[in-house]
Amino acid sequence: MIDRIEQLQQDAQAEIAAADSTDALEEVRIRHLGRKAELPNLLRGVAQLPPEERGAVGKAANAARQALETAVAARERALAASELELRLVQDRVDVTLPADPLPATGRLHLITQTRREMEDVFIGLGFNIAEGPEVETAYYNFDALNTPVTHPSRLMTDTFYVKPVEDLFDPRTVLLRVHTSPVQVRAMERQAPPLYIVVPGRVYRPDSDATHTPQFHQLEGLAVDTDITLADLQGTLLTFARAIFGDERQVRMRPHFFPFTEPSVEVDVSCFNCKNGVTAEGERCPLCKGTAWIEILGAGMVDPNVFQYVREYGYDPEKVQGFAFGMGIERIAMLKHGVPDLRLLYDNDVRFVEQFG
Ligand code: PHE
Repeated sequence: MIDRIEQLQQDAQAEIAAADSTDALEEVRIRHLGRKAELPNLLRGVAQLPPEERGAVGKAANAARQALETAVAARERALAASELELRLVQDRVDVTLPADPLPATGRLHLITQTRREMEDVFIGLGFNIAEGPEVETAYYNFDALNTPVTHPSRLMTDTFYVKPVEDLFDPRTVLLRVHTSPVQVRAMERQAPPLYIVVPGRVYRPDSDATHTPQFHQLEGLAVDTDITLADLQGTLLTFARAIFGDERQVRMRPHFFPFTEPSVEVDVSCFNCKNGVTAEGERCPLCKGTAWIEILGAGMVDPNVFQYVREYGYDPEKVQGFAFGMGIERIAMLKHGVPDLRLLYDNDVRFVEQFG
């Protein structure tokens, strides 16, 4: 009887070791430890044995059962672990596969696109790109641009000052530039004439409505040489207007005033949305408000007083002349793409921004 128990245990142990899945192992367990299996039956029959055998047989059968149960449990743990491992490998999701639909790749913001387009036109005409600081001194933003201390644009309501103004006459007063024009002076300090530059950049003014944001962008232009005239300004801006708004465009100049140009002009481009202020549908054109012209920028011949501030850098007002212009980049973008409210450019609503590019 004891031999038989040993035999049963050996057979079962070999089968447990050979079981290669939890399912196969469960079959082995039922075969050897289940209700109808020989070993448990043997245990149940111990009571019928002659009393002198009961002790030894019962002990051996019990030990065998316990050993087998332990072996099954150990084998079960090992198989479950390797099966889990296998499932993890097989079920792995390849997160590098392209999504469906493909995610949008993004694009340049309309302001950036427009700035680059404008820069390209002037680069094609021989201008270089220059830049300057957004936090400026009153000297570059106003004084050296021939702007008197009493000029209204210096008021706290028109200019962001970094600190409350203590002395209106102090050219070192720090402010946020209200235009890109201070870079005219900085560029002339850096480089003797001839000078042909355009200056893109952020500018700041305390305004906020459908056509003004406290921060916006300008593109400044400056050409200084010995023989620059207003006709050069006109030709340059005509080329620009046609490149941006179409070959049919005309430009016109109206007299205006800026402290740093003399004469000063405002420049209009002929409306590209209508004929003589009337749309194809016979309505008054909403873009030019029926005037057939759209204002796009301020400009003029550099005031000789400005050259006086950079005279020592080669800008003798008796020898050099120049033109300058400045325009809003947002304004060009809005006109070109029919954007009704400037603030749309700054809301970062993807439904708006993804329409461009
Ligand atoms: N700086 C002026 C403005 O912001 C524009 C301008 C630039 C006018 C250069 C004349 C010459 O309104």
